[in-house]
Order: sequence, then C-alpha cells, then structure tokens
Amino acid sequence: MSQGIGVLDSGLGGLTVVKEIMKQLPGERIVYFGDTARCPYGPRPPQEVKRFTLEIVRYLLEFDIKMLVIACNTATAHALEDIKQDVDIPVIGVIRPGARAAEQTTKNGMVGVIGTEGTINSKAYERALKEINSNLNVIQLACPLFVSLVEKGQLTGSQALNIVAETLRPIRDKHLDTLILGCTHYPLIAPLIQEVMGNQVTLISSAEETVKEVKELLKEKQLLSFEEFTNSHLFYTSGPVVHFKKMAEAWLEMRVHVRSTVFRVS
Ligand code: DGL
Repeated sequence: MSQGIGVLDSGLGGLTVVKEIMKQLPGERIVYFGDTARCPYGPRPPQEVKRFTLEIVRYLLEFDIKMLVIACNTATAHALEDIKQDVDIPVIGVIRPGARAAEQTTKNGMVGVIGTEGTINSKAYERALKEINSNLNVIQLACPLFVSLVEKGQLTGSQALNIVAETLRPIRDKHLDTLILGCTHYPLIAPLIQEVMGNQVTLISSAEETVKEVKELLKEKQLLSFEEFTNSHLFYTSGPVVHFKKMAEAWLEMRVHVRSTVFRVS
C-alpha cells in the first residue's frame, strides 16, 4: 500500500480538505485525525493549540505518511512554523493558499476574513494577504459560535441561520466582494453564510487551493500515488465515533470507517 497523506483538524472541519483531496487526487490514501474531544481550538491559548497539534502530528507520523496537511486554520496560525521545523516530511497549512485564492478573486480589493478567535487574533490572514498585495483592504471578524454549529450537525434551519446572520452583521455593509472562510469548519455552513452575505460576495474556502499546492508538491517530489480506489483511508477521532462517522459520511458521500483514539483532554 502506498504511503498516505496525514490530515489533521480540531474536529470535522478538515474533512472539507479531505473531500477536495479525494476530488483532485483520487489515487491518494488519507490518514485523518479530528481532535473532537478537545474542540474548539479557537478560544485556546496559542501554546496549548501548538502542544495539541504537535501531539497529533507525532501520532500521524506513526502511520508512515509522506506529507502532512494542517487542515485547521487555528493550528496553522499557531503551529505551522514549529511543525515544519520538527518533522522531515513536507507540511502544508491552509492560510497562505486561502489568501492567494482571495487575492485572485477580489475585484474591488475589499476582502473579508472570518475565522476563530485564535486565527483572527493572530492576524495571520491579514499578514498573508498584505504580503501578496499590500493594496488590499482586509476586514476580519471572529465567529466563535460557528464551529459548535458544525460540530453539533446544525448545518441548516432557522436557528442556525439566525446565529449566522447575527454574527455576520458587523461585516454585511462593508462592501466586501470576497470573503475567506478562514476556518475549515465553515464550508459546511457555506449556504447559510452565502444567504446572509448575498450573492455579490464570493466565498473562498482554502481547501481547493491547498490541495492544488499538495498536488504540486507531490508531483515535484515524485510522490504522487495513482492507486485504484480501495477506500483504504483511515479516520481517527478523539471524540464519539458514531457522531463523527455520521457527519463524515454525509459530507464525504461515502462510507467511512472511524476509529477512536484518546489523548489527555486538557
Ligand atoms: N477547523 C478549525 C480552523 O480551521 C478549528 C476550529 C476550532 O476548533 O475552533 O480554525
């Protein structure tokens, strides 16, 4: 069996990147870890997020993976550089690819970024966007309630829509034409976000752009796999397996086998 791609997130969010890997790189095997028991990462101190992320990275390395995707913006903001130093396989985060996609999309230069408190406070997107194009106007907003909507599976309905509308109120009249979903959980509630922001705003999920980068990197290193589809992906969660499996199967539109791994909870 070929070496897999390790993908991690605080919970279900990284499955948005997994779905894109399955689409763009169907011959690749994925080893996924969702740290549901310690989700959300957003409000946690950067040092703690870094510690959790390194712990998961070490766990994933035991599966003899050929590269690692930090499919969590909060972990990318707080830990990407340390992980790159720590491991000797290629590592990709989700922030730079998302920033690049937004810069290519915006016409009026008004780019919004929504994410967890940790990601927004780190200003990682603002820095990445300004590095690419210093003329962009960047408006950021933390949306602390969105991750729990997704983790609970509340992806539709009037209650979820009200929470999304109330949260996004401060950026609705800012003339944004592009909005970065700066948390990998948010694409699961993209229809609600789009409804609230209106069709004049293009939503950017970093998943597509991140996976283009994964593909380029594997090609360059001659590590691309072209295996026949055998559904040999591995999914691990530190939380309840049944709920994770139900959500993962609905999002990925396929059967998945989920196993449980427990880390210390705090
Ligand atoms: N999916 C994550 C992100 O992209 C983290 C959400 C959370 O645990 O707060 O930031």
